[in-house]
Amino acid sequence: MLARCLFAAALVVGSVSSAYAQVEGPKMFGKTADGKPVEVYTLKNKNGIIVKVMTLGATITEINVPDKKGKFANVVFGFDDVKGYESKDNQYFGCTVGRVANRIAKGRFTLDGKEYKLAINNEPNHLHGGVKKSLDKVVWNAKIIPPHPQRGGFPTLQFLYTSPDGEEGYPGKTDVRVTYSLRDRNVLFIDYYAVADKATPINLTNHSYFNLAGAGAETVLDHELQIEANKYVPVDQTLIPTGKVEAVKGTVFDFTKTTRIGERIEKLYETGAKGYDHCYALTRPEKRGEISLAAKMRDPKSGRVLEVITSQPGVQLYTGNFLFGQKGKDGKTYKQRSGVCLETGGLPDAVNQPTFPSIILRPGQTYRHTCVYAFSVE
Ligand code: GAL
Repeated sequence: MLARCLFAAALVVGSVSSAYAQVEGPKMFGKTADGKPVEVYTLKNKNGIIVKVMTLGATITEINVPDKKGKFANVVFGFDDVKGYESKDNQYFGCTVGRVANRIAKGRFTLDGKEYKLAINNEPNHLHGGVKKSLDKVVWNAKIIPPHPQRGGFPTLQFLYTSPDGEEGYPGKTDVRVTYSLRDRNVLFIDYYAVADKATPINLTNHSYFNLAGAGAETVLDHELQIEANKYVPVDQTLIPTGKVEAVKGTVFDFTKTTRIGERIEKLYETGAKGYDHCYALTRPEKRGEISLAAKMRDPKSGRVLEVITSQPGVQLYTGNFLFGQKGKDGKTYKQRSGVCLETGGLPDAVNQPTFPSIILRPGQTYRHTCVYAFSVE
């Protein structure tokens, strides 16, 4: 009974905590252009790490972590207000991407004999779920879920969105759930779930741009990177896979050993990608569904380290090649190649690539995807 009262009291004040880690909110962040309120929540842990997530696009707006001297900085891109997020300057900063992250060739696919046409929003292809109601552009319903032993005794911030049948051209009413849980050992769990009432493709991801020296720092080319992949997905000039999955050995794509991002990137400047914008097929010793390391990145100056751990077969390495110096949060400028995304998920254009792992979700099945961002210093 006492526990129930305490629990109810915690809900009333809008703050639920386990031993240390807690989720606070909601707080008003602003309104969308069409008048919908957008709220922001704050996740905190015992080491002072702060992660903020807002209801527009279930988007991470801040991740504050310490460097090797204990100095905190926000390491992800964002904007000060909703207007910034709704502007053309926003290249998917921190958001949840879907229904299908990455490109779909010519915005077309055929499923169970029926052809579907999607918006061409990245000539000549479809990118990141569409134009108006892609998952980054809608306001999600948020709720704090109190600590539960199954979630390591930590509270969870849950976002729900129901995408109606046919939204952005995708079939089936699809219920999507994304949860964020910050643990005391400095890891942020992102768990994705989806169910649909018709067969439909699904490939969700988080699109945070990291600069471990602090968002707004000049470049990410000095970050050191290691990717748990012997193979990558070659693409054409429009960034659509050629259909092959090739060995990284002896190429500019080899990050099997820790390598500076800028070491060989110049060889890609004249390609359509203008740098790294490629999916790696992860080497996964574990069984499918279990999580394992995808990539480890370190900023040598600050000593900040990010490890990305996932249950998914791929990770897209995108080195912010299309950033153009837009003004972001706290007056910072985001120059070309000053942020890096490590997007966990399926392989690109899987709906048109018969040899890639399927991203089709059928009625009765549940899509599950775990992505963990683990922070430390070295
Ligand atoms: C990335 C994609 C890039 C670019 C970016 C958004 O996920 O791989 O090519 O489109 O999103 O600007």
